[in-house]
Amino acid sequence: MKIFVDGILQGRVAFVTGGGTGITGGVARALAEAGANVALVSRSLEHLEPAAKAINEAHAVRAGMPALPTGEAFAIAADVRRPEEIEKAIAATVEQFGKIDIVVNGAAGNFLCKAEELSPNGFGTVVDIDLKGTFNVCRAAFDQLKQNRGQILNISATLHYLGTPMQLHVSAAKAGVDALTRNLAVEWGRYGIRVNAIAPGPIGDTEGMKRLVPEPIKEKLKQRIPLGRFGLIEDIENAAVFLCSDAANYINGAVLVVDGGHWLAANRLI
Ligand code: NAP
Ligand code: COA
Repeated sequence: MKIFVDGILQGRVAFVTGGGTGITGGVARALAEAGANVALVSRSLEHLEPAAKAINEAHAVRAGMPALPTGEAFAIAADVRRPEEIEKAIAATVEQFGKIDIVVNGAAGNFLCKAEELSPNGFGTVVDIDLKGTFNVCRAAFDQLKQNRGQILNISATLHYLGTPMQLHVSAAKAGVDALTRNLAVEWGRYGIRVNAIAPGPIGDTEGMKRLVPEPIKEKLKQRIPLGRFGLIEDIENAAVFLCSDAANYINGAVLVVDGGHWLAANRLI
């Protein structure tokens, strides 16, 4: 079902890390469907190129129709832990599409590990990707965002709202992402840059779910979600298109929880 009118992001350019797979791959596709041109950025071209191809094929099909065109995509390999690679990717996007006015930070790493078994490098690796990587991308995109009165959308989580076993590293990193969201909203709001986040709950058919929720406890987890189902990637896509659109023009510094009510109910026995 079509939720948004055609072309609500027409003329925008989005730089999307983690845009080749999973949740953020869906967000990139949805931004393009809404009319934005999108740069898909992650380490592996094997992830990025098929996603870019699918968006460009949809663009080619729509080009022959009376409806407003969808956006185009291109793939750039870069590691968010390497500021120089991100700066090059930002420059390549500006060269390709002329500007950047939306940044989506979806790149992340995760695995289950007890705190007492987690190595310093294991902890550091996740903080480097999720938190420092988000900063690296925001920092590198600042000039473009300031020039275009653009916006940032960070993909966070709800793990750190409670104590989540085996998720110390990611909880610490995503708590930092929320702090960064609020601080940048205050500091960069004066330039007209909006900075928001989405905190997804458990989203079905994703790498995150595969890694974090062992098959035998899936049903039990589902029963604890007030809306009675896992999230769909589409649920996050719709929240992202809304936050990136002019409908959200006065929303700045928000962390929008999209979890079917899961975290509020997670600790309740009845
Ligand atoms: P995913 O498909 O594995 O997405 C992670 C992405 O990050 C991949 O595209 C990966 O691409 C990219 N990436 C990893 N390390 C990178 C690096 N160093 N530099 C650049 N890109 C890097 O997993 P997902 O489950 O859809 O998660 C997407 C986002 O949603 C993440 O921020 C995650 O924390 C968040 N989230 C997910 C859930 C869930 O239920 N799945 C719940 C809450 C929050 P490459 O391998 O090509 O680099
Ligand atoms: N349990 C405990 N420690 C782990 C681990 C696990 N399952 N996986 C990796 N680590 C540790 C490693 O042992 C290493 O620490 P060490 O040097 O002390 O041994 C450290 O983390 C870095 O591992 P490495 O494999 O070199 O990192 P990488 O940069 O190649 O990959 C990861 C990053 C580990 C986050 C990898 O899982 C990844 O690329 N993930 C992206 C996809 C993803 O996680 N999607 C879900 C998002 S919610």
